Amino acid sequence: MNTVIIGTGYVGLTTGVALAYVGHDVTAVDIDPSIVDRLSRGEATIHEPGLEELLHLAQDRLTFTTELPDLSGETVVVIAVGTPPKENGDADMAYVDVAARQIAERIQPGANLVVVNKSTVPIGSARHVEGIVRRTLRERGVEATVAVASNPEFLAEGRAVRDSLYPDRIVVGSDDEAAVEVLRRLYAPLLEQAFEPPPGVPRPDRMPLPPLITTTATSAELTKYAANSFLATKISFINEFAGLAERVGADVTQVARAIGLDDRIGTRFLHAGIGWGGSCFGKDTRAILATAEGYDFPMPVVQAAVDVNYQQRVRIVEKLQEHLKVLRGTTIGILGLAFKGDTDDLRDAPALTLIEVLQERGAQVRVHDPVAMDNAQALEPPLDVTYATDPLDLADGCDAIVVATDWDVYRQLPLDDVAAAMRGRVLVDARNLLDPDAVRARQLRYVGVGR
Ligand code: UGA
Repeated sequence: MNTVIIGTGYVGLTTGVALAYVGHDVTAVDIDPSIVDRLSRGEATIHEPGLEELLHLAQDRLTFTTELPDLSGETVVVIAVGTPPKENGDADMAYVDVAARQIAERIQPGANLVVVNKSTVPIGSARHVEGIVRRTLRERGVEATVAVASNPEFLAEGRAVRDSLYPDRIVVGSDDEAAVEVLRRLYAPLLEQAFEPPPGVPRPDRMPLPPLITTTATSAELTKYAANSFLATKISFINEFAGLAERVGADVTQVARAIGLDDRIGTRFLHAGIGWGGSCFGKDTRAILATAEGYDFPMPVVQAAVDVNYQQRVRIVEKLQEHLKVLRGTTIGILGLAFKGDTDDLRDAPALTLIEVLQERGAQVRVHDPVAMDNAQALEPPLDVTYATDPLDLADGCDAIVVATDWDVYRQLPLDDVAAAMRGRVLVDARNLLDPDAVRARQLRYVGVGR
């Protein structure tokens, strides 16, 4: 099926490559010529396991371009542009509006188009986009069949290819039955899992076929915010219990496992630590709070999840303070900058808050990350930190080290050498990643979260 995707960020690129891999002809449009150039050469523009391999495997069905092509015949156009937060937390629709107008300008007479909102957009956006397209078509005097559907994306960074090929469910919100049928055909290879898994991203064992959930457009839009708010709340919940566990002398990792095995609760997203970051949870919780405020409807649960999350970051600095007493003049090493492992993304990364608060309190900061260093060095204004070449170099002269990102490589820290290189003895495991006994065996003081 002829598919056009506008925007080649995490969502647009991964979706486009996955749809091409399972057999569709995909044109992916981005305004940035350098991105289009790199993608056309088969180079992945984001760090995402398995993406470059898939890009190569699907290259015959993939075209990257800066120009939206003419839209004729039966075509699915996916809007996957950014919706950054505005001052008040609302999602900014400016890029979506531009995409909608461009689509309408390219529609050819007689075309049968399904426009899909995949960007995370405010409630009511499907109708809003439909309005823009219809108005522009009327101005142009062009007759075509156009339906708009909301199709939220649930992929997580670091596992985006896997989530795209092997989704838990696909949600399509539209009041137009014909549009739903077109999208059912678009997603048929994923719904039926009728494709050979790429070697690098195998199909999970005993994976059940994902259901297609059809809803109204508004329900689909709200589903996206509800999913992210729920996951963010689940993490804040376990982080709150981590704080209490520290006071009563319990181990929150044991508690999380023990409650998670109740399948009404589930084990995932119960990992206590420095709290959540990234481009989605913070943005989407703020956006839904702003929406609710517009309806004069308080959402204290989501608000609490946000507040607990910020406190969790500050709590890590307080732990350092408890053990080092005076932070001014100390050197603190931060292992990991990305907001989570397996990504080079620094958006709303907890490590950046740590750096800021530590510097406010007069500490010198050394940092390391296995993949996000280039992105960190490109930040504006620049970070006033020392970039270490590896974890051992980071440890050199540190009074304390904080593990701030759950990178797999940090599980195998050369603890003997790290301990020898440090000036102080404190290791704050802000991701509960390390074995406390192994750390203590090196005469280091292990400080976890809730354990
Ligand atoms: C999140 C959702 O998981 C996706 O389903 C959604 O599609 C995406 O947002 C989006 O809206 O685009 P993402 O932000 O990429 O995905 O990453 P997550 O794996 O959800 O992690 C978010 C943050 O929570 C990270 O900082 C992670 O370290 C933290 N986290 C996660 C915890 O602190 N504890 C946990 O148990 C799990």
